[in-house]
Amino acid sequence: MTIIDIIEKKKRKQELTHEQIAFVIKGMLDKTIEDYQISSLLMAIVLNGMTLDETVYLTEEMLNSGDKIDLSSIEGVVVDKHSTGGVGDKVTLILAPLLASLGIKIAKMSGRGLGHTGGTIDKLEAIPGYQVELSREEFIKQVNDIGISIISQSGNIVPADKKLYALRDVTGTVDSIPLIASSIMSKKIASGADLIFIDVKVGSGALMNNLEDAKKLANTMIEIGKRFNKMVICILTDMNEPLGYAIGNSLEVKEAIESLNGYGPKDVMELIVSIASLVLNKTKNIDMDEARDMCMKQLTNGQAYNKFKQLVEYQHGTIEDIKIASKVFSVKSPKSGYINEIDALSLGEVAREIGAGRLTKDDVIDPTVGLVLTHKTGDYVNENDELLKVYLNEKDIKIDDILKCFNISSDKMKKVPLIYEILD
Ligand code: URA
Repeated sequence: MTIIDIIEKKKRKQELTHEQIAFVIKGMLDKTIEDYQISSLLMAIVLNGMTLDETVYLTEEMLNSGDKIDLSSIEGVVVDKHSTGGVGDKVTLILAPLLASLGIKIAKMSGRGLGHTGGTIDKLEAIPGYQVELSREEFIKQVNDIGISIISQSGNIVPADKKLYALRDVTGTVDSIPLIASSIMSKKIASGADLIFIDVKVGSGALMNNLEDAKKLANTMIEIGKRFNKMVICILTDMNEPLGYAIGNSLEVKEAIESLNGYGPKDVMELIVSIASLVLNKTKNIDMDEARDMCMKQLTNGQAYNKFKQLVEYQHGTIEDIKIASKVFSVKSPKSGYINEIDALSLGEVAREIGAGRLTKDDVIDPTVGLVLTHKTGDYVNENDELLKVYLNEKDIKIDDILKCFNISSDKMKKVPLIYEILD
């Protein structure tokens, strides 16, 4: 068997065997296969796809390339939640403590942001002192003690994904359903949870731009889950406009705190309550309406926020010390009309430009900067009304780059739904 035969086979749209996929992953890691050969195979996969069997073999080989976390010493159903990435997506910061306050065990390993999308670990690091790195023992002890821990993916979890993802990122081969599904699922299975909840974002600010592809991705991940005896639930949600109002790490933590106290933005609250009630329904067999009431209660009686505080304090963070950039700039509407579009992708890029995100893995982010929208799509604005506030330090912004993100017109367009579909 040679890598050239395997590339040729995929180029001719033929199905690779388990043995061939194992050969590729092993060769990539022991460096007997060159990066350019892996890149060539990746491009053939992007163009010609993979069957479900091939995708499962790839997931299995990636999973077996590193350590697997054993969470069996945690009592009860352990839930993990993943988002395929978006702009203003602070869901984990709210959902995880809410569920933990309802007795669901959350053992979560999260990632950092890359490109225009944010990452939970960057947001948690905006809380001064918050330790994102814990040993396996500390991680499990914390979940047993307080029911929740959120740490960064560390150690030797799926090294094959680190290598593959780095190559995909620089060879235009990220947007492939089998590659995305195997990348996400290998890490989620290695992280050891029983129930994996995946928020598949759909829209301009997401990896999946249309509902059809998002469904294909969701169904592929659900099928992979079945082969590994993991329950996977996918919720397909909108990412054409940013979620909530805040984009940028400290600003998003502040918005998460407001949401944990029951007064977050409408879309954020709706998404949180929908996901949390579904988790309660699936794990505890609680009727959906009752589950929604239970979630709303926890978000208004201080319990969800108290759990968040407990999480932060246990990991040595101080909520009171969160800093926001001092230079504030208000961007005004050039005309009157309905805001029909707020382009999540472009706003994510503006936030990244001013330091809220990174272009390469090694860039240092500024947690204090970001944007806060004043409106959501569907709102009416008069000329000169504020569209958003920019919080920044030394970097400048181009107002035109921000204005380009807004489509304002005299006709009101129909708003797309926040939640498209739930698949399991
Ligand atoms: N997130 C991942 O973890 N992997 C991908 O391939 C895409 C998004």
